[in-house]
Amino acid sequence: MPNVKKWSEYYQAKVGFRNYWYAICLSSEIADGDWLARTVLGEDILLRRIGGKVHAMSDRCIHRGVKLSDRVECHTDSTISCWWHGFTFRWTDGMVTNIVGAPDSKLIGRAKIKIYPIEEAQGMVFVFIGDSGFTVPPFSDHVPPMFLDADRIIEGESMVVNSNWRLGPEGGLDEIHRYLHRTSTLLLETKATMPLGHRGAKTQCEIVENATGPKGIIDSFASDTMYFEVDIDDAPGAVTGIRFADTGIKKKRTVGTSSWLPGVLRVEGFPQDGGCFFEFYVPINEKQHRCFMMISQICRTPQEASSFRSQYMTRWRRHAVQNFLRQDVAARESSAKFYNRDRGWIEEVLTEEDYMIIEWRKLCSRHSKGVQTPDHVS
Ligand code: FES
Repeated sequence: MPNVKKWSEYYQAKVGFRNYWYAICLSSEIADGDWLARTVLGEDILLRRIGGKVHAMSDRCIHRGVKLSDRVECHTDSTISCWWHGFTFRWTDGMVTNIVGAPDSKLIGRAKIKIYPIEEAQGMVFVFIGDSGFTVPPFSDHVPPMFLDADRIIEGESMVVNSNWRLGPEGGLDEIHRYLHRTSTLLLETKATMPLGHRGAKTQCEIVENATGPKGIIDSFASDTMYFEVDIDDAPGAVTGIRFADTGIKKKRTVGTSSWLPGVLRVEGFPQDGGCFFEFYVPINEKQHRCFMMISQICRTPQEASSFRSQYMTRWRRHAVQNFLRQDVAARESSAKFYNRDRGWIEEVLTEEDYMIIEWRKLCSRHSKGVQTPDHVS
């Protein structure tokens, strides 16, 4: 592994890092009494909301391994019974409370199924994927700064992307990918400036890794490092960026991009001034991740919140989520075949301006608390 030795944990983390909190679903996807099956880092997990609180347990029966979600049977509010032989598990602690087919078994009151810590915040549900015995860290350490701000209203959706999860957070630190977005309808909608790229990534890379709190990399580019015109071969100015600021239509906007462990992008000033975008890249398996695209704004009154929610449905969903962000998804899926082969991470030919991507890989490796392996997968 010639060029990966400084980030070998990241190289190995095809299915993510253990002992971190991950987004699993939107709160709106699981109403009271409902259940939802999801795969996170290869682990099959079954959720149920009981009395307003979401609980999570392994979606593999400890008896002989069927998926509980293949036929959900909850005979009481507090338990679920496996549909094959009737092992019955309590949602709060995973304890076997009964076995329908063997009511006198010594396993009753002794054996347990794995349950998962759950947090719910900002309209999203998060699960801790970790080792038994590992002290569960504060949830706030594993989401970007600003995400938990009071009065922040968040709207968004999730989709399954057919690429490895690592291509997600790297996109936010990809200094030269703005070229991709020059055709987005979002630029016209918001009169936004979009350069072809920036120069000087090395000097603009700010690493945040205090002993406590979120760990991440901030791309603190200065606006005078942007460039908007590139000659191609003998054709001067063959490619140009979008520079609304020069037309006087609207002042130059500031956009601040950063990526945070265990794989979350934050973009301040997106999709418009005052907004903030969060994108969570959650591994499903080696070749797929679930992407949560969440647009937010601070809203101090119910009227502001209502106005923002309306804007999300009428403007941001169409131009930001389904246009601008889908351009990034298309790039991830198009490069998946290259990176799904392990050699892709070795054979890639990066430029000087890809500096932050390498620093991100090193940061993740320094703060690895364990790599998900086939032994952990359900
Ligand atoms: Fe679940 Fe037997 S496999 S009870």
